[in-house]
Amino acid sequence: MAVVVDLTGKVAVVAAASQGIGRAVAEALARAGATVSICARSPERLEQARRHIHATTGQEVHAYVADVTREADVRAWVQEVVDRWGTVHIAVANAGGPPAGTFQELTLDQWDMTYRLTLRSVVHIAQAVLPLMQAQGWGRLIAIESVSVRFPLDRLMLSNSLRLGVVGFLKTLAREVAPSNVLVNVVAPGYTRTERLLELATQAARRRGTTPEALLDEWAQATPLKRLAEPAEIAHAVLFLASDLASYVTGQVLVVDGGLAPTI
Ligand SMILES: NC(=O)c1ccc[n+]([C@@H]2O[C@H](COP(=O)([O-])OP(=O)(O)OC[C@H]3O[C@@H](n4cnc5c(N)ncnc54)[C@H](OP(=O)(O)O)[C@@H]3O)[C@@H](O)[C@H]2O)c1
Repeated sequence: MAVVVDLTGKVAVVAAASQGIGRAVAEALARAGATVSICARSPERLEQARRHIHATTGQEVHAYVADVTREADVRAWVQEVVDRWGTVHIAVANAGGPPAGTFQELTLDQWDMTYRLTLRSVVHIAQAVLPLMQAQGWGRLIAIESVSVRFPLDRLMLSNSLRLGVVGFLKTLAREVAPSNVLVNVVAPGYTRTERLLELATQAARRRGTTPEALLDEWAQATPLKRLAEPAEIAHAVLFLASDLASYVTGQVLVVDGGLAPTI
């Protein structure tokens, strides 16, 4: 018997999805039959992503300009989706990555900003979607974090710190909402070929007097699979967690890192 992920009839919201991992997730969910809404801040890139996902999947895709650090934006986005399609079944909490830097380099303002971007944004999304999911007795909340929740990555002080807060929050939340058949999980990517990774490689290359390509190759070689992930490979893990195949999985961190994390 073929195992097929069929999300026909499911409504999904994917945050921060105009490019990179978010866009790949939205595309994978739409390809599996879900009706998808995406958000991001830049209207042009968002519209490009909407058209791209519609063209590659044939699904209707809704897009809404929203900054996930702003609670009112997230609420208005989810309300527009509910007005249009009645509910939300699957919510993917994603955002841009926090600034890189060591403890000495980072300012308190950057700590505050990362709290809003990385942790508070997930709370915004959870608050907006959980009442719908609990009322209907079915829901999936999935956050995109990082392999940095398994071991600290050099110069990613903010990611290493705040993402652990997200994991603690979602592990606790998973227990609270499990009786309503709402499952809460985290996907933790390793080095994935996106604009964000290229930006990190460009910054590191400048500091070390080398090229971004050399840095990307170094990170690929540091990974046991000897290559970077493609965004679709992260999206497939989200797809699994969003589907009925994962009906008994909650409160987990699914690391998709090509074997990078040296931890058990
Ligand atoms: N790529 C990797 O190797 C890797 C590895 C581990 C973890 N991660 C994490 O995975 C997440 C996604 O990474 P990525 O590589 O796909 O990043 P990316 O290529 O930089 O894309 C980020 C997306 O988020 C949107 N965004 C950023 N800030 C936002 C905000 N405040 N509100 C709404 N949308 C926002 C961006 O659009 P706008 O700018 O238009 O808003 C864009 O669509 C990040 O948290 C990243 O740190 C990435």
